[in-house]
Amino acid sequence: MSCENDRVLPNIVLIGFMGCGKSSVGRRLAALTGHRFVDTDELVAQSEGCSIPEIFARGGEEAFRDIEEKVLADLVGVAGIILATGGGAILREANREAMKKIGTVAWLDADPDSLFERATRSNRRPLLQTENPQKTFDDLLALRRPIYEAAADFRFDSTGLDHDEVARNILDQTMRLRARF
Ligand code: S3P
Repeated sequence: MSCENDRVLPNIVLIGFMGCGKSSVGRRLAALTGHRFVDTDELVAQSEGCSIPEIFARGGEEAFRDIEEKVLADLVGVAGIILATGGGAILREANREAMKKIGTVAWLDADPDSLFERATRSNRRPLLQTENPQKTFDDLLALRRPIYEAAADFRFDSTGLDHDEVARNILDQTMRLRARF
């Protein structure tokens, strides 16, 4: 990626609830743009040398959030990236500020039923390992929706679209937004 291209195409930060497809769409965006794909969950796991469920089991959610905040802060100033963030990364003000500095923030949304189905396909999401995952999911989504809205430069509803279509739309919207400034 040339410096010239970095100036034309900003970093893109993907936010959204568990199961919205941030990592899959992020990889496609990286392929489309030549930017490097970065995933905060992967960086958190790498920095601790263990999986996200293990980090939650050892230190609880707060321990995970502290590492997540550090990982995001370290990405401020890095150019040429497509960044997928964990679904709860928007919860901390410091993270929302870091995201704005990193790039254009796109909220990847979908209808709640498909989000729930995708988020619970595997057991790798500690927050949904409860007695009533549907209620936990509903409560978390209700709490977070306004925060995604406030944190994002734009929202994109991916319901019914494949990852390639979503990636192309996010890129289009990012470039349109960019052209306005
Ligand atoms: C979380 C979402 C997960 C991961 C962690 C916490 C959340 O990432 O960061 O389990 O609070 O919503 P995904 O959104 O990629 O599943």
